[in-house]
Amino acid sequence: MPPAGRCLLWLGLVLASAHASLESAAPGDSTTGPLNVLLIIVDDLRPSLGCYGDKLVRSPNIDQLSSHSLLFQNAFAQQAVCAPSRVSFLTGRRPDTTHLYDFNSYWRIHAGNFSTIPQYFKENGYMTMSVGKVFHPGISSNYSDDSPYSWSIPPYHPSSEKYENTKTCRGPDGELHANLLCPVDVVDVPEGTLPDKQSTEQAIRLLEKMKTSASPFFLAVGYHKPHIPFRYPKEFQKLYPLENITLAPDPQVPDGLPSVAYNPWMDIRQREDVQALNLSVPYGPIPVDFQRKIRQSYFASVSYLDTQVGRLLSALDDLQLANSTIIAFASDHGRRVMDLVELLSLFPTLVGLAGLHVPPRCPVPSFRVQLCREGQNLRKHFRLQDLEEDPHLRDNPRESIAYSQYPRPADYPQWNSDKPSLKDIKVMGYSIRTVDYRYTVWVGFDPHEFLANFSDVHAGELYFVDSDPLQDHNMYNDSQGRDLLQSLMP
Ligand SMILES: *[C@@H]1O[C@H](CO)[C@@H](O)[C@H](O)[C@H]1NC(C)=O
Ligand SMILES: *[C@@H]1O[C@H](CO)[C@@H](O)[C@H](O)[C@H]1NC(C)=O
Ligand SMILES: *[C@@H]1O[C@H](CO)[C@@H](O)[C@H](O)[C@H]1NC(C)=O
Ligand SMILES: *[C@@H]1O[C@H](CO)[C@@H](O)[C@H](O)[C@H]1NC(C)=O
Ligand SMILES: *[C@@H]1O[C@H](CO)[C@@H](O)[C@H](O)[C@H]1NC(C)=O
Repeated sequence: MPPAGRCLLWLGLVLASAHASLESAAPGDSTTGPLNVLLIIVDDLRPSLGCYGDKLVRSPNIDQLSSHSLLFQNAFAQQAVCAPSRVSFLTGRRPDTTHLYDFNSYWRIHAGNFSTIPQYFKENGYMTMSVGKVFHPGISSNYSDDSPYSWSIPPYHPSSEKYENTKTCRGPDGELHANLLCPVDVVDVPEGTLPDKQSTEQAIRLLEKMKTSASPFFLAVGYHKPHIPFRYPKEFQKLYPLENITLAPDPQVPDGLPSVAYNPWMDIRQREDVQALNLSVPYGPIPVDFQRKIRQSYFASVSYLDTQVGRLLSALDDLQLANSTIIAFASDHGRRVMDLVELLSLFPTLVGLAGLHVPPRCPVPSFRVQLCREGQNLRKHFRLQDLEEDPHLRDNPRESIAYSQYPRPADYPQWNSDKPSLKDIKVMGYSIRTVDYRYTVWVGFDPHEFLANFSDVHAGELYFVDSDPLQDHNMYNDSQGRDLLQSLMP
């Protein structure tokens, strides 16, 4: 993928179900009644989790969930920025179909009246509920989290959300700042709570109500952490003494990285504690001791998030809802699946697991079609009988390829490189990821016509996964790379 945007969403995907019948029979059939769905969406979580093999990070609750789940090791977001990614996987359409590459338009008006995952469940008799950050707030979900189409009741937002980017972090000078690093004493912050704690509490209240409800539920819970700023209860910092924090294994800008591919992390630079470091733009290194502090606070935020997930899943158990609820979570364990998958596939997979009719594949173009899918139904990974006869399901080479894209305003990193507005997009990076390599071409893009011009190549990247797992050596201009690219030509 092109370098991560500020909202790397689902780096992996855990689909769990404790429902014994899922493995042996059709899900949601008449003997068991319909299955509920709990969709947990975490903002900017990378696979820094025990279940992904991270030796440092403490994530016992997510690890426990993953131990009885299907764990996708190679799941890719379609555009690693909050709003485009969420609109893409919640509608099951690629950014080139939703026409959302920034934060500034509502797909129903500007692209097509596409159905969403929760809308489809709602139309099939489910009580659908949104807690926290599910859709990105603002225009991209019509200032209403796509209500009333997606949700049966008004979406819940934690009241303390408004303090996330305000001056609530106590600095070494004793004053309050809007910092990147923000461990807090929860009793001292405004309202004496944090958004993700409030979201967990609200989600548990809704589950309690659902316990006696006649209709099945679809509950989406969107957590803010570990997205920046790292504002978390300070006791989680103690899990990660600074002397135990390792540095990134490859802190240098990769060999042969084209400038268009570099993300200058402008969002981080705006925070008061980072501004004070006077880092040079765009490549200027971060001092090593501050790198360690960033990693410490990221890991602490992950552990804080993990305790919230633990509270939510315990409530599901206590309410005896766990055996009738499909859980989808944004990360990875259990039966490991190495196949490449796209977040786009969440829509057909969830509805298929719940026993609903899986929408047909989208024609190209599909702007006029309200309900269809661009992703795969991943049910075969659950070893379910293939009830749906779909000849495309097998022998489709796209099954082992993940596509993603990322826009840029210029060939050289500048102030808006990480989040260009639609009108400023001049270049689009298209990546294909296979089990062997990641190949990206950066091509000219016309934001008025939404057209990519593949004969106008600005730069290219090619990384071989086996020999260069961290993608530090761009082989695009190398003879090995040229041979591969030749073989890809039709
Ligand atoms: C969009 O879809 C929703 C839900 O099906 C429907 O209520 C609405 O009328 C549609 N809007 C248009 C403009 O077709
Ligand atoms: C978006 O929200 C506005 C204000 O609530 C509403 O009038 C409009 O119909 C909504 N757009 C769509 C496509 O539903
Ligand atoms: C820090 O590292 C030391 C030495 O490896 C280890 O003994 C200790 O348990 C670590 N502390 C934490 C909190 O992980
Ligand atoms: C910030 O860095 C620039 C050049 O890297 C230097 O000219 C300037 O004096 C520095 N400012 C402060 C406040 O350290
Ligand atoms: C789930 O477990 C509860 C209590 O153990 C039981 O009453 C209920 O029938 C079970 N539901 C399903 C769908 O198996």
